[in-house]
Amino acid sequence: MKASYHHTLFIFVTLAFFLNDAQMVFLVDPTYGFIEVKLNESNFEYQKPYDTPLDQRYLYQNSTHRFWVYADDKPHHLGSNTQPRTEIRILPDYTSGVWQFEGLAFVPNGTTGATIVQIHGAAHGNTTTLLRIYNGEMRFYSIQVIDTKLYDRWFKVNLIHDVDGGKVMVFIDNKEKFKIHDQGPGLLHFKFGVYGAPRNISYYMESRWKDVKIYKKC
Ligand SMILES: *[C@@H]1O[C@H](CO)[C@@H](O)[C@H](O)[C@H]1NC(C)=O
Ligand SMILES: *[C@@H]1O[C@H](CO)[C@@H](O)[C@H](O)[C@H]1NC(C)=O
Ligand SMILES: *[C@@H]1O[C@H](CO)[C@@H](O)[C@H](O)[C@H]1NC(C)=O
Ligand SMILES: *[C@@H]1O[C@H](CO)[C@@H](O)[C@H](O)[C@H]1NC(C)=O
Ligand SMILES: *[C@@H]1O[C@H](CO)[C@@H](O)[C@H](O)[C@H]1NC(C)=O
Repeated sequence: MKASYHHTLFIFVTLAFFLNDAQMVFLVDPTYGFIEVKLNESNFEYQKPYDTPLDQRYLYQNSTHRFWVYADDKPHHLGSNTQPRTEIRILPDYTSGVWQFEGLAFVPNGTTGATIVQIHGAAHGNTTTLLRIYNGEMRFYSIQVIDTKLYDRWFKVNLIHDVDGGKVMVFIDNKEKFKIHDQGPGLLHFKFGVYGAPRNISYYMESRWKDVKIYKKC
């Protein structure tokens, strides 16, 4: 009993640290209890303005995906009324279970009103989650602020979708930042890149991603 108590205490102390305002923050490994679902090129579907070659909106260099798009670019399909995007859709869809997207993201100062990662599909509406950058802040859609001061630095995003439990969780740099009910099950998939919001968007939008992984709870 005593050894186990000390073990627990040890974990507690190593996981906790103090901010200057004495607010305690727990660093966790959001992938604990998950197994990685290996991805290769066949799991990636590239979406970009329909009239523009991919290499004018996307580069894979130095193990980094770089996506960019302009506010006056065309949508990804002729006839679509959606905002411009350059994104990778991860295949195949999931419909149940607990799934997780992980990646390191970089958004240059100047990009605003851009969704950089999303969960597409839902029972109600087209999307379950959009994580957007506005003026260096990450927001859930356009309202709730999830994190701040994200421009011009790499940050780690872990996005968990518990379809069975109807929940979505967002971790930034291994800290739980946001939790919300989902929009019901459906044909679901993660996407990352840049996708213009309906309003308040910069002319140029860019995000970079590396170490993108998908996990599933065992
Ligand atoms: C890529 O992944 C798919 C689906 O997971 C799999 O069927 C295929 O064998 C993989 N291809 C390679 C080259 O590993
Ligand atoms: C390539 O990536 C590495 C590791 O992230 C980084 O240290 C290096 O500066 C990058 N090089 C270029 C040319 O971007
Ligand atoms: C972004 O760039 C603008 C213009 O150069 C600057 O005024 C602002 O402080 C920068 N914001 C951040 C968060 O670095
Ligand atoms: C869902 O997507 C369809 C097809 O792109 C679009 O016509 C519709 O307006 C979207 N619905 C919502 C609520 O955004
Ligand atoms: C969008 O712009 C309007 C008008 O400038 C402003 O009131 C609103 O707060 C902005 N929304 C976001 C999410 O930045």
